[in-house]
Amino acid sequence: MKHFIALADLTPAEMRHILNLAVDIKAAWKADTDTPYLKNKVLGMIFQKPSLRTRVSFDVAMLQLGGNALYLSPSEIQLGKRESVADVSRVMSRYVDVVMARVFNHYDLIELAKYASVPVINGLSDYSHPCQGMADFLTMLERHGDLKGKKLAYLGDGNNVSTSLLFGAALLGMDFTIATPKSYELHPAVWDIGKRLAAESGAQIAATYDPIAAATAADVLYTDAWASMGQEDEAAKRRLVFPPYRIDEGLLAHAHADAIVMHCLPAHRGEEITDPVADGPQSALFDQAENRLHAQKAILVWALDAEK
Ligand code: CP
Ligand code: NVA
Repeated sequence: MKHFIALADLTPAEMRHILNLAVDIKAAWKADTDTPYLKNKVLGMIFQKPSLRTRVSFDVAMLQLGGNALYLSPSEIQLGKRESVADVSRVMSRYVDVVMARVFNHYDLIELAKYASVPVINGLSDYSHPCQGMADFLTMLERHGDLKGKKLAYLGDGNNVSTSLLFGAALLGMDFTIATPKSYELHPAVWDIGKRLAAESGAQIAATYDPIAAATAADVLYTDAWASMGQEDEAAKRRLVFPPYRIDEGLLAHAHADAIVMHCLPAHRGEEITDPVADGPQSALFDQAENRLHAQKAILVWALDAEK
């Protein structure tokens, strides 16, 4: 069973294969020559949290691949409350061909995958956001070509998005530096995995508390919300310590002149990123959002072994 739970579960060859497939699928979409790889297949989408990009891009991806998607809102399934995660998984497996879930607790995804007889895709958990990561590396490839030895600098919270970026960079041999405030670092277990992958690919991975050191000579500057979904209570406290990590024009000036700026969105403009940067010539924000569509088509086709 090909689940898509964390980028670190992929081999470097699998990651490159899915990215190449996304490039081909995007080119076909642009030329209006899409292949209906998933004719009559159905994706079940379980959401415990709100979403714009994940919900719409998966839905449109399935339609354009010849299949259908079913949106299940947080109040409907009530994963683990109305019914156990294991039973939800067993039942969904009898109806749909593939499941995508956005959950609070990553363990619920592991549990879904354990009991599913169809592939399970992580649409964001408190641990990681691998679909976002695939779209992001597709965007970086488009903008910078070969990523080996290029520098990705992440500024802000050591969270689900930065975890996926670390894993993806380490798989692809891209250098990765994360700058966080103290107490907001990536978890040591994430570093252990990142170090193992980086040792194989030759990627240089590093952590610092100094945003300027991270941004210096970067090819990509990346940020995300200071408080993720589920951490709303901490937002005010976090606003006191995160401002030095904001991507503004001053910080961007430390990166390479052709550096791109990335954000998974939704953005809190004026907090982690300023308007002139988000809307400026180096912004790749809306390419990233579009690439969710193409990257997820590739993930779906890969997971369902639907390549002809
Ligand atoms: N980036 C992302 O996953 O956006 P949504 O929360 O809107 O799906
Ligand atoms: N880190 C953010 C990403 C949103 C797409 C969150 O989990 O809310």
